[in-house]
Amino acid sequence: MSSTDRYAVIGEHIAHSRSPQIHALFAKATGQDMQYGLLDVPPERFEGAVNEFFGDGGRGLNVTVPHKQAALRIADALTPRARRAGAVNTLARGGAGTASDVLLGDNTDGAGLVRDLSINLGCMLQGARALLLGAGGAARGIIAPLLESGLAELVICNRHADRAQQLALEFREVGQISALSSAGKDFRPYDLLINATSASLNGELPLIPPGAVGRDTLCYDCAYLDRDTIFVRWAREAGAARAVMGLGMLIEQAAESFLLWRGVRPDTAPVLKALAKS
Ligand code: ATR
Repeated sequence: MSSTDRYAVIGEHIAHSRSPQIHALFAKATGQDMQYGLLDVPPERFEGAVNEFFGDGGRGLNVTVPHKQAALRIADALTPRARRAGAVNTLARGGAGTASDVLLGDNTDGAGLVRDLSINLGCMLQGARALLLGAGGAARGIIAPLLESGLAELVICNRHADRAQQLALEFREVGQISALSSAGKDFRPYDLLINATSASLNGELPLIPPGAVGRDTLCYDCAYLDRDTIFVRWAREAGAARAVMGLGMLIEQAAESFLLWRGVRPDTAPVLKALAKS
C-alpha cells in the first residue's frame, strides 16, 4: 500500500466539487505528501463508506451536504466548535492531539466564513449589524463564530419564524442575537446580509425584510455556483455595491481542515485567485 496520506470529500451529488482541486493546490504549495479524492454516497451508505475509508488507513474527510449531522453522530470526539454548531464538516483520525484510533469531528465552516469576510473582503465585523437568512444546519454552524467576531447585533430571519426564535434563544449567551419574522419590518439597512438558506441551490430567493439592503450592505451568499446565484443577482438589483458568493468561504474552511490534518496553514490567496479565474 502507498505510504501517501489519503483524504477525501464525502457528500452526495458532488461530482463537480472544487475541494479536490483546492486541497491539491494547498498540498503542492506546502510540500505535503498527500492524496485527496471524492466519495459520492447517499445517506444510507454514509457510515459504511466512512468506516471503510478510515479502516483502509484514510486520514481525514471533508463532509458536505447532506451528511454533516450524520458525521456528528459517528465521531468519537468533537471539538467545542463542532459541538456548538451541531454539525461536523471535517473528520480526522488522530487529529488535534487525540489518539490515532479516535475519530475527531470538527466544524470549520464558521471560521471559514469569518476569515473570508474579514480578511479577503475587508469587512469590519467589529460593531457591525448583520442579518442572517436561514435557521437550518448551515446557519447554526456560523452563528457563534460571527457573534464572537464582535458584531454589535445579529438578527436571524427564517421562513419558519419559530426556528429562528429557537436559534436566537440557544445562542443568547454568545452575543447580541434576536429573531425577526419574515413579515417583520426593518427599515434601516444592515452592514451585512448573509444568506445561509438552501434556497439558492434550488434557484429560489428567500424572503428578505424590506429595507434590509442599502448601497453599503455587503451581501454574502454562503452558496457557491458556477454562475451568479439568484440571491446575488437580487442584491445587485436592490442596490448593494457588493454581492458575493461563498467561494472564499469554501476555500477558507478547507484551509482550516488542512491545518487540523497537517498542522500547516496554507496560504489561501493564490488559491482564491486561481479558482475565481477558472
Ligand atoms: P442546511 O443544512 O443547508 O442549512 P436545512 O437544515 O434543511 O439545510 O435548512 C435549510 C434552510 O433554508 C432553512 O432555514 C429553510 O427555511 P425553513 O426552516 O423555513 O424551512 C431555508 N429555505 C430553504 N428553501 C427556502 C426558500 N425557498 N425560501 C426561504 N427559505 C428557504
